[in-house]
Amino acid sequence: MTRWSRREMLGAAALGFAAGAAAQTQKPLDRPVRVGFIGVGSRGTSLLRATLGFPNVVVPAVCDINETALARAVSTVQASGQQRPEAYGRGIDDWKRLVARDDLDAVINAGPWQLHAPMSVATMRAGKYAATEVPAAVSVEQCWDMVNASEETGMPCMMLENVCYFRNVLLVLNMIRKGMFGELTHCEGGYQHDVRGAFLSRGGERGPAGEITWRGQHAARNNGNLYPTHPIGPIGWWLDINRGDRFSYLVSMSSKSRGLNHYARKNFGPEHPGAKRSWALGDVNTTLIRTENGATVTLYHDTVSPRPYDLILRVQGTQGIYSGTLDKFYFEGRSAKVDAWDDPEPYYKEFEHPLWNRLAGEAKSHGHGGADYIELHEFLKAVRNRTQTPIDVYDTAAWSCLYPLSVESVAGRSKAVDIPDFTRGKWRSRKPVEIS
Ligand SMILES: NC(=O)c1ccc[n+]([C@@H]2O[C@H](COP(=O)([O-])OP(=O)(O)OC[C@H]3O[C@@H](n4cnc5c(N)ncnc54)[C@H](O)[C@@H]3O)[C@@H](O)[C@H]2O)c1
Repeated sequence: MTRWSRREMLGAAALGFAAGAAAQTQKPLDRPVRVGFIGVGSRGTSLLRATLGFPNVVVPAVCDINETALARAVSTVQASGQQRPEAYGRGIDDWKRLVARDDLDAVINAGPWQLHAPMSVATMRAGKYAATEVPAAVSVEQCWDMVNASEETGMPCMMLENVCYFRNVLLVLNMIRKGMFGELTHCEGGYQHDVRGAFLSRGGERGPAGEITWRGQHAARNNGNLYPTHPIGPIGWWLDINRGDRFSYLVSMSSKSRGLNHYARKNFGPEHPGAKRSWALGDVNTTLIRTENGATVTLYHDTVSPRPYDLILRVQGTQGIYSGTLDKFYFEGRSAKVDAWDDPEPYYKEFEHPLWNRLAGEAKSHGHGGADYIELHEFLKAVRNRTQTPIDVYDTAAWSCLYPLSVESVAGRSKAVDIPDFTRGKWRSRKPVEIS
C-alpha cells in the first residue's frame, strides 16, 4: 500500500488545467487499478459487478449504511475471486474513512443525490479520481465545490453519465463531427421514465412498502427538473458545451402535481400519507436552455406518469435531423425521399463510433445496452493512464446545476436564470471532447 508519490501528485495536479498535453506525459499505472465503492444499493451493485469484470482492477474497500447492501457488496467482490474487501458501515460518515485510505486510486460513489458532491470533493481532496452517479450535485454551491476541488488538486471528477456512451449517442456525435448535420441549431431531450417506485418504496432495502425514499424526499420538496443529466449529457457533448459553447440561461415551467398522489392512492390506499400529502414536484417539467452561440435545448422531466421510457434525443442542424424517439434520420440531399425518415442501419454501417466498433462485443451483456461497460471502461482507462476523464468536472457541474437552476426558475414564475460558467472563460478555447 503506497501513498501517491509527490511526483505523481504534481503530475496529477497538471490535469485540471492542461488536460491532454500534460496528461500525456504521465506514466500509466503498472499495477492493478484500485477502486473503492460508496453506496452499493441498486445502482452501486451493478457498477460494482461491472467493475469487477475488468482485468487488472481490484476493489479493496466498500461502504454502505445498509447492512444487507454492504454484505452483498463484500460477497460480490469475494465471488469474483478477489480478496475480502474492507467493509465500512459504521454510520453515515463512515465513507470518510474509506476515502482516506492510502491504497485507492479512485472512488466511485452511488448513494443519494445530495451526498454525491461532498463524497466527490473529499475523494479529490484525498488525491484520488472521483466518479459519481447522476446528478453529481443538487445545488450550485456543490457544483462550485467540485470545480474548485478539481482545479486545486488536479484530480478529475467524472459524473458517470452512461447515456453519453449509448450507441446512438456516439453515432450521432461521430456524424456531427463529420459535418453531416451542418450547424446545430436545436436539441431536445427528456428524462421520461416512470420511476414512481423509486419515490415510494416497494419494500425491501429501500424501506417498508409505501415509505418515502430519499429520492421521494427530493420530489416532496423541489419542483423542477430533478434529473437532467441523462439527456443533457449527450446534448452537452453534441453542442460542444464547455468546449466552444456554453449554457447561457434557462427558463423552466412545471405542470401541476398529480402523479405521486394518484400512485400512492392506487397502491397503498386513500389514507396513505403519500396519497394525501402535497408533493412539490410537478408531473411534467419543461426547461428551455439557450447557449451562448445561439442554439436552444428543450428538456423534459417526467418521472411520475404512466408511460414508456423515452429520452427523445433529437438533434437538429442546418442539413438534417436525428430523432432518438424514432431512431431515424433525415438529411437534405441524401435522404431518398423528401419529407420521409431514413432507417438508421446504413448510418451505423458508415458512421459507427470507433468505441462501439471496438468494444461492442465485450459491452453487450452489460446494462443500458452496453453503455455501462463502456463508460466504466473509459473511466478506468483514464485512472490507469493518469489522464483527464472524458466527462470532466466542468461537464459534471454544468449538467448537474440544471436541477437547482430549474427549481429556481419554476419558483420565480419561469423567470430566466443565468447558468454559471464553471470553466471561468476557458470554454472559448477548450477543444471538443476526444473519444476514441
Ligand atoms: N446512471 C444510471 O443509469 C442510474 C440508474 C439508477 C440509479 N442511478 C443513480 O444512482 C444513485 C443511487 O441510486 P439507487 O437507485 O442505487 O439508490 P438506492 O437507494 O438503491 O441505493 C443507494 C445506496 O446508498 C446507501 N447510502 C445512503 N446513505 C449513505 C451513506 N451516508 N454512506 C454510504 N452509503 C449510503 C443506501 O444505503 C443505499 O444502499 C442515484 O444517484 C441514482 O440517480 C443511476
